[in-house]
Amino acid sequence: MATILDGKAHADRMLESVRLGVEDRRARGLRAPGLAVVLVGDDPASQVYVRNKSAACAKVGITSIEHRLAAETPQAELDALIDQLNADPDVDGILVQLPLPKGLDSKEALHRISPAKDVDGFHPMNQGLLLEGLPGLRPCTPTACMSLLAHHGVNLKGLRAVVLGRSEIVGKPMALMLLEQHATVTIAHSRTKDLPAVCREADLLVAAVGRPGLVEGSWIKPGAVVVDVGINRIEDPALGERLFAAEPKKLETLKTKGAVLCGDVRFGEAMQVASAVTPVPGGVGPLTIAGLLTNALMAANNHGA
Ligand code: GUN
Repeated sequence: MATILDGKAHADRMLESVRLGVEDRRARGLRAPGLAVVLVGDDPASQVYVRNKSAACAKVGITSIEHRLAAETPQAELDALIDQLNADPDVDGILVQLPLPKGLDSKEALHRISPAKDVDGFHPMNQGLLLEGLPGLRPCTPTACMSLLAHHGVNLKGLRAVVLGRSEIVGKPMALMLLEQHATVTIAHSRTKDLPAVCREADLLVAAVGRPGLVEGSWIKPGAVVVDVGINRIEDPALGERLFAAEPKKLETLKTKGAVLCGDVRFGEAMQVASAVTPVPGGVGPLTIAGLLTNALMAANNHGA
């Protein structure tokens, strides 16, 4: 049976470190870090994320300021808000919640954020620094996954790592961070030929494709470490029966609550083959916010204000 890599416990450790960092600023007579969160439209999942971010900020002493705009907001108005936040000396970090409603250009918005305030690490300047292996603000989810692996003593040097997914938010930056730590990295995706065989080569498998239960137990090399970044909501009982054959508790939750969260990996099957696995929920999910607040503190300290 594999070890469960507890993301919630590690997120708590990271948040405690941020809390101490904020306290340290206060002791030096500096103000609390300020994080501006911009939410456009009324996507229910985004509203939950933003609420969770604000609650986490309150816990560690970061000042969070929410800016809610209507779904019909023109690009010029969003751009003007970003300009205003870039110029505001009390704002250290700016996060524009994605996805943006149709009609708004997310690249234009993300490129407009000052690189020094880009707590998501999505600006081309920060992406370039990551590519060069230089310090900068780095994407929250992969940064926090790397911190989790380090905490659990996973030695990445020379390891065969497969990153499943090539998004700019997770897949690409995760691959670069693993490479920086001397892993041998393959980025696999939906067009990769014989995906199961590629995954089976992995000593470390990072799944970030948003396809529920795509990775079966037979895709996993015995003894591998598995990091499951996917968070998928399942409501279909027939799909649940198929995905959760090795997870009676999940099936039960689906039956009683009408929905259940699962990752891109079949957790019950992975537990039989791997040496360590992150669960969903309670794995990578809580780490993302911890990574974000770590970045907000870093941005504030970099500003020297
Ligand atoms: N929506 C889903 N994940 C993220 C994220 O990491 N950052 C932002 N800005 N929006 C998201």
